Amino acid sequence: MHFKSQLLIIFTICSTIGWSQNYEAKVDSLMNLMTLQEKIGQTVMYSGRWDQTGPIVGTDNGRYIREGNLGAMLNAFTVKGTRDLQKIAVEETRLGIPLLFGYDVIHGHRTIFPINLALSASWDLKMVEESSRIAAEEASAEGLHWTFAPMVDLSREPRWGRISEGAGEDVYLGSQMAKAYIKGFQGDDLSKSNTILACAKHYVAYGAAQAGRDYHTVNMGEGELRNVYLPPFKAAVDAGVETFMSAFNELNGVPTSGNKFTLRDILRDEWKFKGFVVSDYTSINELVPHGFAKDSIDAARIGMNAGVDMDMVGKLYHHFLEDLVKEGKVPEAYVNDACRRILLAKFKLGLFDDPYRYIDQDRENNTKYKDEFLTKAREIAAASSVLLQNKNEALPLSKDIKKIAFIGPLVKDEYDIIGNWAAKGDRNGKAVSIFEGISEYLNPNHILYAKGCEILKDDESGFEEAISISKQADAIVLVMGEGHHMSGEAASRTNLKIPGIQPELIKKIREANPNKKITLVLMNGRPLNLSDEVNLVDAILEIWFPGTMGGAATADLLFGKVNPSGKLTVTFPRNVGQVPIYYNMKNTGRPIPDDNPKEDYKSNYIDVPNTPLFVFGHGLSYTTFNYSDFKLSSQTLNSKGTIEASVTVTNTGSMDGHEIVQLYIHDKVASVTRPIKELKGFQKINLKKGESKTVTFKISVEDLKFYNSKMEYGVEPGEFEIAIAPSSDFRFEHTFKLLD
Ligand code: BGC
Repeated sequence: MHFKSQLLIIFTICSTIGWSQNYEAKVDSLMNLMTLQEKIGQTVMYSGRWDQTGPIVGTDNGRYIREGNLGAMLNAFTVKGTRDLQKIAVEETRLGIPLLFGYDVIHGHRTIFPINLALSASWDLKMVEESSRIAAEEASAEGLHWTFAPMVDLSREPRWGRISEGAGEDVYLGSQMAKAYIKGFQGDDLSKSNTILACAKHYVAYGAAQAGRDYHTVNMGEGELRNVYLPPFKAAVDAGVETFMSAFNELNGVPTSGNKFTLRDILRDEWKFKGFVVSDYTSINELVPHGFAKDSIDAARIGMNAGVDMDMVGKLYHHFLEDLVKEGKVPEAYVNDACRRILLAKFKLGLFDDPYRYIDQDRENNTKYKDEFLTKAREIAAASSVLLQNKNEALPLSKDIKKIAFIGPLVKDEYDIIGNWAAKGDRNGKAVSIFEGISEYLNPNHILYAKGCEILKDDESGFEEAISISKQADAIVLVMGEGHHMSGEAASRTNLKIPGIQPELIKKIREANPNKKITLVLMNGRPLNLSDEVNLVDAILEIWFPGTMGGAATADLLFGKVNPSGKLTVTFPRNVGQVPIYYNMKNTGRPIPDDNPKEDYKSNYIDVPNTPLFVFGHGLSYTTFNYSDFKLSSQTLNSKGTIEASVTVTNTGSMDGHEIVQLYIHDKVASVTRPIKELKGFQKINLKKGESKTVTFKISVEDLKFYNSKMEYGVEPGEFEIAIAPSSDFRFEHTFKLLD
């Protein structure tokens, strides 16, 4: 009997006897029919030519598929493209096992949302979930089953370009964001054709690259690894993420794509992760230059033995795994496990019921850039922007201002505005520029425009026109920042200033207009050093790279139709020399006294204060909020109980607005020192002008646990400080005791 008929009989039997959900049994039946080479084929991924996300590695995909040597593809999508490839897999291979199509759908697929660092600044888990839900709708309509997202790498490194892809510097917030993304991508039923597999990446500690240089070395104690860098990944496992991606970096001398400790001991044995692990793009091959494998064959051996189930683009499993198994250098059981996990994902997606279920021309035609997606993208972009400074009430702008000058290389930009890793977002005309956005609010005769300069070039010839129109205007808005390629992968910077001659132009415009209100709208993918600009301009609106509807959303904020509500999820330093700087540092044995920050022989600098320019959690609104009446339900907490902390928040200004209310604790004394502050909860509330609300947080021992020096996870009784605050810039005034 032909194998495919045998396969069909097995699946039919499974269904008739009610095993339709018993995917494990189906996988086992299928694997009984597979040769070692076919099993290895499932662990191989190559790239299509629809996009390029790494160095090109020559491939002959059609042939590899036909030979049963290819299980998954990246950078291959669209209904037509995936149908052609899937047809080969289903109709021209011995067992007809469908392919899996993956792609970097990071902050949107066609409709592009703000970059992920911006999304985190919304502190809005529902919005983050909605953004990844829409991304999944669009991606799945183009034949995709899998996204390499979310990136849950925590980072305290503004020099690192990939800080733009994550949720910032905080463990708790990063963990909540990880869950929200995964829920949006995977939904509650993977067999639906609009849900896709998510991938927690890059496992692990990639965000701690030395000096912020991409792919660089990471050395860290296990305590820091477990307390800071692992929790967002653990949260991803708890949220049911189906796949993990191992990283490029080494960790304490062992590259993470060959790291048995993190991949097998922690991920599999401790966390019981059941999905599959894909390498990063040629990260197994890179075990050789790391100095961890002697050649490519050795790298393949180490990768599989360490627990990397799928080889992304590297060709190593394809070429060497069979011999390695035959020679006894890789246990066959490891290959079986890897193949089983990958097949299981394909079953869960329903690809064995219908390999073409994601391939539907009508759906593709009708799903891209739906109006409702664009409306959401506009709302989310506005919620992700952060009003960093607003002196002299420069914002919101009044529509009655006679002439407003819009100056800068990014005013009319429709290209950079959707940011890095913008999947198939259209950079040529689809995105709404700031100029288009403000044109919804102002008649053309109220608008003056000059580009002034480029982002990076040092040609000052446009300065004169820019200065001249600034003088004719009643208010000035500068739209400046980084190009989208200045953050993301392989885009580390040692200089955190606004790039090029843009800072010069800001200075000259201020000199020419000493008394006018100047607003700086910033597009960038990382914390910048704005130490000069805070003194030169009145308002600073951080819009990051806000996506397809970014210009419209920014105009909504500039003219006060929407009240800014985003808050920073990453610290903005005064200069690059303070880096790494983050809110939840340790106290040191010589903390600076409150009343004398310059005291000698204390842990400080002689040239700048210890404090950053803008703290974690900071973000202004056009209204004001007052916090009062802090209450604790009890001064003591026992190991089984909970206590409640509450505060009254009042909108004391003249506009309705959202406030992000933050809960912090500090474990005063422990067997290993604890950070001076730790975020343990947050709520985003909406308050009408004049309205008050009581915001309550429940605290249990779960919130107080950490890994001690023996790597035991638990709590230690003692005194804890607690506060509910609008940002991380506060002093604790209240305490409770955790009893034995
Ligand atoms: C990146 C990953 C990405 C992969 C596939 C790599 O270079 O590090 O984040 O998912 O390429 O495009």
